[in-house]
Amino acid sequence: MKILGIESTCDETAAAVVENGTRVLSNVIASSIDLHKKTGGVVPEVAAREHLKQIAPVIDHALEEASCAWDDIDAIAVAHAPGLIASLLVGVNSAQAIAYIQNKPLIPTHHIAGHIYSNFLDREEDIQFPILVLTVSGGHNELVLLKGHHEFEVLGETLDDAAGEAFDKVARLIGLGYPGGPAISKAAESGDGTRFDLPRPMLDKENKYNFSFSGLKSAVLREQQKLGELKEQDVNDISASFQEAATDVLSDKLKLAADEFDVKEVHLAGGVSANKRLREKCEEKLQGRVFHAPKQIRYCTDNAAMIASAAYFLQEKDKSVLGSGKTVEIFSQKPL
Ligand code: KG4
Ligand code: ZN
Repeated sequence: MKILGIESTCDETAAAVVENGTRVLSNVIASSIDLHKKTGGVVPEVAAREHLKQIAPVIDHALEEASCAWDDIDAIAVAHAPGLIASLLVGVNSAQAIAYIQNKPLIPTHHIAGHIYSNFLDREEDIQFPILVLTVSGGHNELVLLKGHHEFEVLGETLDDAAGEAFDKVARLIGLGYPGGPAISKAAESGDGTRFDLPRPMLDKENKYNFSFSGLKSAVLREQQKLGELKEQDVNDISASFQEAATDVLSDKLKLAADEFDVKEVHLAGGVSANKRLREKCEEKLQGRVFHAPKQIRYCTDNAAMIASAAYFLQEKDKSVLGSGKTVEIFSQKPL
């Protein structure tokens, strides 16, 4: 079964064709990130206007790259929550129009479920449940127990900033560009991660599966204020020290939950799962367990292949979703 996925929840306009949930035939992403660099973050209206420009060419490109005509497509999947409302409207309206004109079923799909399914893209091995998934993005940060296909139990989540948001805010604080994650991890390569003694927040028992990065962010602010004008080495050292603290918290909680729930597999997903240091620490701490992070960096950040994959497994579980797209509801902040 070939599904055309469409994703427009934030600043990436994306379309992809995926066969049977795992085989990626195309994965096209147009990002408006360069426009948001100027403002140091995503301006929702600018993102929505860009989606409108990009959506039709991106869909055409995805079909062309997959060598598919409309007749080859069995269903359309679209991310309908959570996200920026004006951005969501572009993807959902386009998907509905196509489904109507081409007479295809439309499957509304949750964006975070998409991130969770990004680890099944290009996958050949059998899937073994239960799976523990840490989703770490700019807009969301959750620890999820995947008991079977689309059976989610959220064990914990962030109480303030998501991990990627913390990377972005710290980067802005120390004068690195947007998005902060790649900039911080690059600067950290030349930095000393032990120079600043930053807190590892929320490792106490009560909040063992929740996250909070605002204290860590404030600690960075205090160090920056003490130093005054930052030299290049200061920026590199702050980046490395921050990255060490953030990745310690994420990997420790993942290990704790993997042991408590004795899961068969452990996955990392979302934009921050592109972080090399985080992957290294997870691999080290989870030795003896099956550990996966998305097979390509393009599957970590927002993309439509993950939406098509999640939709495939959703309709495998419950065929009634194939008729559910006639009236898609948009939820800007719908939890998983
Ligand atoms: O999943 P995503 O594309 O968008 C959301 O759904 O939020 O994640 C974007 C986030 C940004 O905050 C970005 O700074 C972060 O992922 N990110 C990284 C890296 N690459 C992207 N964070 C840390 N290290 C990276 N290499
Ligand atoms: Zn995302």
